Amino acid sequence: MWNERYSAKEYAYGTEPNTFLEAHFRRLPTGRVLSLAEGEGRNAVFLAQQGYAVTAVDGSQVGLTKAQALASAKGVEVECVCADLADYELGKGAWDAIVSIFCPLPPAIRQALYRKVMTALKPGGVFLLEAYTPEQINHGTGGGKSVELMQTAASLRAELPGLDFVHLVELEREVIEGTFHTGLGAVVQAIGVKPA
Ligand SMILES: C[S@@+](CC[C@H](N)C(=O)[O-])C[C@H]1O[C@@H](n2cnc3c(N)ncnc32)[C@H](O)[C@@H]1O
Repeated sequence: MWNERYSAKEYAYGTEPNTFLEAHFRRLPTGRVLSLAEGEGRNAVFLAQQGYAVTAVDGSQVGLTKAQALASAKGVEVECVCADLADYELGKGAWDAIVSIFCPLPPAIRQALYRKVMTALKPGGVFLLEAYTPEQINHGTGGGKSVELMQTAASLRAELPGLDFVHLVELEREVIEGTFHTGLGAVVQAIGVKPA
C-alpha cells in the first residue's frame, strides 16, 4: 500500500516538516536522531537541516527513494534504511533522540518497538511523537479507519513506562500535510526523556 501511495510524483504528506516537530525540535539533544516510519523524508530532511545526524527508517523503498531525492535537493544527508519496524534492531544507547510522526503500527508490534526505543535511547535521550487518537475516526481527515493503529496519552504512558514525559497532550488541531492529512484532526503529542 505505501509503495503505491508514494509512487505518485507529488509528496503524499508534502515536503514541509510536521508542525509539532518543527515547533519542538529544540528539545532534541544534538547528535544522532532516528526517525521511525519516515516515509518520503520531510521530517528527516528538516532535522538534517537543523544539524542533526539523521537516520530514517521505513518499510517503503519508494518512499525512501523520494526521501533521498528531497535530501539531495535541500543539500543535506540522511541515512535511509528500508526495514520492517516489526523486526528492526534499534541498538543499545545508540540515539540522542527518536522521532515518531504518524507511525501506524498494530499494538503488538508497537509495544515491542517501544521496548526497543527505551533500550536504544541514550540516557537523557528524547522521544518525540505525534499520532492520531481513536477520535480521529470521527474526522475522516487522514489516518485511515483502524482504531488499533491509533494511540492515546494513556497508551503512551502504559507502553513507555520508563519515560519521563515533559509534554503529553491530546488535542484537536488542523493537520494539513499533503493530500492525505487534510483538516481538523484528533492527535496525541508527546515528548519524553529517558532518565539519565
Ligand atoms: C502516515 S505515513 C507517515 C510518514 C511520515 N512519518 C510522515 O509523517 O510524513 C506512515 C508510514 O509508516 C510506514 N510504515 C507502516 N508500517 C510500517 C512497518 N511495519 N515498518 C516500517 N514502516 C512502516 C509506511 O511505509 C509510511 O511511510
